[in-house]
Amino acid sequence: MGDALTIGVRFALYVDLMLLFGLPLFALYTPLQRRLFAISPKVLGALALLGLALSVLSIAAMTASMAWVGLAELMLADVEAMIVDTSIGHAWLARVIALMMLAALLSVRPRTGLGVLLAGVALGSLAWTGHGAAGEGASANLLLIGDIVHLFAAAAWLGALVVLSHMVFGSTDVLVAQQALDRFAKAGTVIVATIVATGLSSSAFLIGWSGVAELPETRYGQLLLLKLVLFVVMLALAAMNRFRLTPALLDGEPVTRSKLRRSLALETAAAIAILALVAWLGTLEPPVAAS
Ligand code: HEM
Repeated sequence: MGDALTIGVRFALYVDLMLLFGLPLFALYTPLQRRLFAISPKVLGALALLGLALSVLSIAAMTASMAWVGLAELMLADVEAMIVDTSIGHAWLARVIALMMLAALLSVRPRTGLGVLLAGVALGSLAWTGHGAAGEGASANLLLIGDIVHLFAAAAWLGALVVLSHMVFGSTDVLVAQQALDRFAKAGTVIVATIVATGLSSSAFLIGWSGVAELPETRYGQLLLLKLVLFVVMLALAAMNRFRLTPALLDGEPVTRSKLRRSLALETAAAIAILALVAWLGTLEPPVAAS
């Protein structure tokens, strides 16, 4: 039960905080659409409050699983010690403060830039709950920074997919949708390159060449390999959107729009499935730690 709860809360936090960061970020790098697709402060406010509630549950679940007790037997003193005496607790505190400031900002005077910054602090703090903060010595900072940038790039991709799907599933004018898809295609190349570079750097630290051959034999390895298969599926769908469906969108054929809808829905589902896999594999021992 404990592990299932910890994994479930990790997954929910990934989705929530990635949308909280990725949705307004899309508006930042697509100035044309900014006024058309400003993300409602109510939606972002709800995501920030949900992030706070999930963070309270996550620190309780993590403390309980580390103290080998159920949530019902958890002592407040254990949670306090977890928050005050551990780096996970400090990262948690930074996340809670950032989310509280963001919720306040959104309720009085929403500002995209500052909002993205505060959401970035909350999302980046998740690196301390996985293996991003597991490194030792000089390489520890490289692993941590790579992991945080990996989280940001994954959130940028997921945020863009949700906004673009909203456009293509909704009644957005074909020309505006096509321009947004086209603009994302360029940002998408940078996002994918960043994900691959930071993903490989984390793999080098957490798996190493010696651990590659073992991957199919461990649960951690099997989940990571499945994740890479889903990543290749996302890449194939993104390429089809960019080089075939988006250019064809202007032909105004309903079939093109429904193909694009299906492709964006599949790409988004694959991204969500990756977050579920990472929520689980982040609780398991990577090979390097085992050797
Ligand atoms: C070449 C492709 C990729 C590689 C090699 C890769 C590799 C990795 C590795 C080794 C980790 C650390 C896992 C751990 O905590 O032990 C990781 C974490 C993660 N990856 Fe990827 N990844 C890739 C693509 C993606 C994609 C496409 C997404 C999402 C759409 C994604 C989302 C994440 C997330 C959310 C984490 C957790 C970070 C944390 O909590 O610290 N990755 N990735």
